[in-house]
Amino acid sequence: MAVARIGELSAAHRARIAAILEATAVFRREEIDVALELFDETFPRDTRPTIDAATAAAPCNDAPPTDSSYVFLGAFTPEDELVGYACYGPTPDTDRTFDLYWIAVDPTVQGTGGGTRLMTEVERRLEGLNARMLVVETSSRPEYAPTRAFYERRGYAEAARVREFYAPGDDRVIFTKRFQGIFNSSTGRGAVQQ
Ligand SMILES: CC(C)(COP(=O)(O)OP(=O)(O)OC[C@H]1O[C@@H](n2cnc3c(N)ncnc32)[C@H](O)[C@@H]1OP(=O)(O)O)[C@@H](O)C(=O)NCCC(=O)NCCS
Repeated sequence: MAVARIGELSAAHRARIAAILEATAVFRREEIDVALELFDETFPRDTRPTIDAATAAAPCNDAPPTDSSYVFLGAFTPEDELVGYACYGPTPDTDRTFDLYWIAVDPTVQGTGGGTRLMTEVERRLEGLNARMLVVETSSRPEYAPTRAFYERRGYAEAARVREFYAPGDDRVIFTKRFQGIFNSSTGRGAVQQ
């Protein structure tokens, strides 16, 4: 089922986020835990005591998002099922450099354009903020080869590599895409330089 829209997330989406991360089968348990920590920091679950048993049994409530600097975007099917998400934010202590912390699409819909829609929306928002650069880090492991190709085809270039950073034989590969100028509303794209 193709992605119909990109939209905001809330605490209620936590279980779907966890399911998507697990279903991709590329993330280690610790990576999934970190991804969910970022989510919880942004959308804290409402732990206020309640006398309503039905509410108390709910896995999570929609407490308002915090002023966390992480931004989450979801990819939704026409039936409004969450099938992918991206998380990005400003890199602390930099001048308009941003990090893409996470992007994941449910394997059942990978290859149908959801990841591209998410990246396009992240970049559109960054260009609106006059961002200079988006940094994406990934692994050199073979199972990430399609992911690296995905970034490269969208204009991300390898800027650095830390050999064996994650583990023996598993490099940290750092891709960047540079933005310049004001977002061009007539083409829907900003000018990009590497
Ligand atoms: C990378 C990812 C987000 C792309 O999302 P997607 O919805 O499959 O992306 P799209 O359909 O817009 O584009 C797919 C493109 O990526 C390639 N691709 C990458 N991974 C793919 C996969 N697992 N299945 C199908 N195509 C994949 C396709 O060949 C296609 O190529 P194109 O550039 O010629 O169009 C998604 O594959 C994913 O969640 N991968 C696992 C998690 C991951 O690696 N996240 C990044 C961590 S750094």
